[in-house]
Amino acid sequence: MRFPVLSAAAFASLAACADASEPPDHLRIADANPERGRELIAGYGCGACHRIEGVRGTRGTVGPPLTDYAQRKLLAGIVPNTPRMLVAWIMDPPAMSPQTGMPAVGVSEPEARHIASYLYTLGAARSAVYPPDPPLNRRGQPGAEASGPILAPESLPLAQSANTARGGKPP
Ligand code: HEC
Repeated sequence: MRFPVLSAAAFASLAACADASEPPDHLRIADANPERGRELIAGYGCGACHRIEGVRGTRGTVGPPLTDYAQRKLLAGIVPNTPRMLVAWIMDPPAMSPQTGMPAVGVSEPEARHIASYLYTLGAARSAVYPPDPPLNRRGQPGAEASGPILAPESLPLAQSANTARGGKPP
């Protein structure tokens, strides 16, 4: 196994935030190892296009910086940032967004799970968990409280959930 060499300062800052970087429950990925994910990010050269905290030499500016990724609500501006979506994205971005500038670089599903688990350690300590909005057809009824100031990913009006929330059948 190969570990990236860290400067003393970088190592100290990593160690300092080690226990603060546990992702919240809704971003946990079973059987995934963030440390392995960090190695894979280096190995696949994601840093040619992205800045990624904690991974040496990731200075790319082609894609967005993946800073505080645990705090992002939307993935690539199109779908909720959830483990399922992120793993699928890392494996094959054009399958989710045909016009995207990010290519599929040949990441397998187990590898994508490790990588996603690392990205979800970034900014995890400050990632707010908002209660999900009640389904649209229950709004205003007793027990259907308003949600926090930011939409929870579950409440985004994606085609299927909006349809079922209005009482329609899933397609
Ligand atoms: C050739 C350049 C390139 C490479 C290599 C690349 N990406 Fe990307 N990536 C992009 C671009 C461009 C976007 C923005 C895509 C969009 O919004 O459609 C993106 C978007 C993303 C996003 C979503 C960001 C957001 O704003 O939600 C994630 C996560 C991501 N990349 C992770 C990775 C990982 C992990 C790797 C390595 C396995 C990788 N990328 C390799 C170019 C690249």
